[in-house]
Amino acid sequence: MGRAHIFKGGPAVELEQIPGVGKSIAKRLRDAGFANVETLAVTPAREVKEKAGYEKLEAAQRIVEAARELLGCRFITAYEHWEMTKKRLRCRTGSKALDNLLGGGIETQAITELVGQYGSGKTQLCLMLCVTAQLKPEQGGLGGNVLYFDTEGTFSSNRVYQIAAENGLDPGQTLHNIILSRVYTSDHQMFLLDNAFEKCAEENVKLVVVDSIISHFRGEYLGRETLADRQQKLNLYMHLGLFASFLDTQGSLKEICTSPALHEYLHRLML
Ligand SMILES: Nc1ncnc2c1ncn2[C@@H]1O[C@H](COP(=O)(O)OP(=O)(O)O)[C@@H](O)[C@H]1O
Ligand SMILES: [Mg+2]
Repeated sequence: MGRAHIFKGGPAVELEQIPGVGKSIAKRLRDAGFANVETLAVTPAREVKEKAGYEKLEAAQRIVEAARELLGCRFITAYEHWEMTKKRLRCRTGSKALDNLLGGGIETQAITELVGQYGSGKTQLCLMLCVTAQLKPEQGGLGGNVLYFDTEGTFSSNRVYQIAAENGLDPGQTLHNIILSRVYTSDHQMFLLDNAFEKCAEENVKLVVVDSIISHFRGEYLGRETLADRQQKLNLYMHLGLFASFLDTQGSLKEICTSPALHEYLHRLML
């Protein structure tokens, strides 16, 4: 399951480079969680209006449009797309059978969603990928660090230690290379997401894990009448897909989300 690239590569672009955005507007945007031009460009104007406290939607729209134009992210040629596609890596999963099914492992520049019942092994697979992602590309890894969002408190450093030792890696160093964040609410999850962009670039992150993407949303948005709101918020996660694509042009980042039976959301990822 992947999304087409929108951005060309390069380092994150500072907000002050947007025409008409000076120090004070840049500060307002940063305080609202928009760390750079890329995050603005992939955010709906409505959300920028709310978070940055603009009275009029048009003001937010102008900034978002300007951010998109600055990045030149409206069009790329199919050739550029092909060139970026060639840079895709596969990260082995630790299971030969699964790697064969996936054509060598989980591919970069994409969101991969693990869907399965409780106890089916989604978290175990994420823990395994925390280790294999750190292997060199020639060993079937991505040669980078991992950002791990744990919404259910199921991350196990002991298990990672064990897997790293089994794979001949230094377990202590492997754990040092995993940046962990416990996620307490769906709002917290969205906040962390907004800040993840910067962290990934700073920390040479090649894999982002969200385990699980849905649990807080399901717990907080109960009943059919809240479904539209929940879907709208979850939809924001599509930004991560764009953001994964962008960062991948500098290295190779991918994101793993897990959700126990997330059928109503799944079609959104299969674009
Ligand atoms: N330390 C471990 N070593 C090997 N297998 C484990 C370990 N801990 C849990 N498991 C296996 O993983 C299963 C739980 O999978 P988990 O990844 O937590 O499921 P999910 O995230 O899909 O709910 C357990 O049934 C158990 O068999
Ligand atoms: Mg789990």
